[in-house]
Amino acid sequence: MLLNNPFLILGETISPIFMQWFVIAMIIFVIAGTLLDIIHKKNVKYFFENAKKAKLSATKTLSAGEKISVISKTIATDIATTSELGAGKRRAAHLLGMYGTILFWFASVILIFCYSKPSSETTSIWPVIWHIGAIMTVLGGSWFWFFLRVDVYSEAQPWYRIIQADLFVLALIASSLFGLIWSYLQSLNLNDRWDDKVFLVLYIVSNLVLFGGVYWSKFAHMFYKPGAAIQKNLAEADGSRDNLPPPADAPEQFGPGIKREEPKHY
Ligand code: HEM
Repeated sequence: MLLNNPFLILGETISPIFMQWFVIAMIIFVIAGTLLDIIHKKNVKYFFENAKKAKLSATKTLSAGEKISVISKTIATDIATTSELGAGKRRAAHLLGMYGTILFWFASVILIFCYSKPSSETTSIWPVIWHIGAIMTVLGGSWFWFFLRVDVYSEAQPWYRIIQADLFVLALIASSLFGLIWSYLQSLNLNDRWDDKVFLVLYIVSNLVLFGGVYWSKFAHMFYKPGAAIQKNLAEADGSRDNLPPPADAPEQFGPGIKREEPKHY
């Protein structure tokens, strides 16, 4: 199954051009959804105004080299390892899901644009990456949704309580899970049976929800979070610290209460 290229078999009934247009439509959905979100929340406007205000209290002007160094370090640590989530399960689940999704999406684009024509010879690595990425996304996403979500982990809500904030993670899990089942059924060579087609439809619908729902979901955090991390580290380096006071030069004394339980009440 890991070697099955589902788009190659699909290419025998649906034109590869149609699949390629579907991918382009999803990219347009992401751009449009994020822009609408930016206009609605005014978060980017606030972000730049705040950065401009904070610059006035900068104690140092950063050279281009220093800026590049801060940005590179932020990409290598804060962004690539989602260090904001600290050490522990939350970060492990996020990394599993994040890298799984990146592999799954990247391999989907390669398979659709390079290996979906019936005459194509698929390099075996790409279907393997596609399946491994999907499995990692299902595992990381489910771990987060069933066990680590704030509502469940900290507020003792049952795991099956679904709210709008779950749209992103659920659509992400659904699209990779339905993709995997579709590929598995296809690899069984069911011939005229309908099973794989049902999961193909579910795979398409879940992708439409995931990419078409950017405006209503947490999808755009994958663009906002890196931007905010870069701004925070630049503000740290130029001394403006987003107009926040410097850390106290004194031992941390929070009393014995802080050791009684893990901080998990948000
Ligand atoms: C392909 C890229 C990414 C994917 C697929 C992804 C996926 C997710 C998912 C599924 C969630 C849970 C959403 C929810 O609360 O329901 C989440 C939360 C989060 N993500 Fe990402 N993410 C990505 C990129 C990033 C990046 C680049 C950062 C930071 C630099 C980041 C930081 C966070 C944080 C801080 C949370 C909140 C976690 C929590 O509530 O415990 N994510 N992400």
